[in-house]
Amino acid sequence: MYLNNDPLEADFQAKIDKGQNIEAKDWMPEKYRKTHIRQISQHAHSEIVGMLPEGNWITRAPSLRRKVALLAKVQDEAGHGLYLYSAAETLGITRDELYDQLHSGKAKYSSIFNYPAVTWADMGAVGWLVDGAAIMNQVMLTRTSYGPYARAMVRICKEESFHQRQGYEIMLTLCNGTEVQKRMAQDALNRWWWPSLMMFGPRDAESPHTEQALKWKIKLKTNDELRQQFVDQTVSQAEILGITIPDPKLKWNEARGHYDFGDIDWEEFTQVVAGNGPCNRERLEARKSAWEKGAWVRDAALAYAEKQEQRSLKVAV
Ligand SMILES: [Fe+2]
Ligand SMILES: [Fe+2]
Repeated sequence: MYLNNDPLEADFQAKIDKGQNIEAKDWMPEKYRKTHIRQISQHAHSEIVGMLPEGNWITRAPSLRRKVALLAKVQDEAGHGLYLYSAAETLGITRDELYDQLHSGKAKYSSIFNYPAVTWADMGAVGWLVDGAAIMNQVMLTRTSYGPYARAMVRICKEESFHQRQGYEIMLTLCNGTEVQKRMAQDALNRWWWPSLMMFGPRDAESPHTEQALKWKIKLKTNDELRQQFVDQTVSQAEILGITIPDPKLKWNEARGHYDFGDIDWEEFTQVVAGNGPCNRERLEARKSAWEKGAWVRDAALAYAEKQEQRSLKVAV
């Protein structure tokens, strides 16, 4: 039972319990605000770092149609980053501070983007699995308690489902193609399967914030529940493709009504989160150099805005 003597906090909790949104100007506990800044900004950083492994393949897409779809997807991810940075700013943090946290390594982003995309089949596997896992998490977030975050998620989810389909369609084409193409698809599944399961975060037993996050409706399902949902949904999709999920322990459990699956390599997860994944350094360098190379654009935009303001002041006088 949750007891609270603070009337402001009791009121805040009552709103959440009734399923109402918390808005930017509403009173909120400092910890709720901080937790949201952390979560929304991590999410924003993940969107823009997530552009890197796929952006790398735009010039090498095998056809015009594939290029157009991939380009649209990568642009969508930039848009997701922008909605989410804006949502984070409503909580009283500036864009510059947010970028600074990313560039200094203080802020985290989804560790999945620290894995390399080495073949064209990876564009299929990433869309199918990584965007698929992201949707599972994000559909839940459309009903999260913080209004600006929940609303941003509605549009993001629509775009994510396009991303997932374009990835799955790439896989389907490869799997219906030559032996070599099918082997490429299998290889991509082998490499992306376990990191995709890690995307849901640590096991519930090792996830210290879960209880508070559920109470504040920051999360509506736990990491393990979402991971299970993802496995259950993905198995039949792999069967349609005719490729094998690289887990000998994967097996339907009639009693539970879910698939059982093997152990995740949590040591690998810890290492990648700690900055020692295959591409951590490269990803951060790419973001920092984009920031530095864009300095003249920001300076020019500011100078132009100032000029416009002075001109309008003159007109007013
Ligand atoms: Fe996205
Ligand atoms: Fe996406």
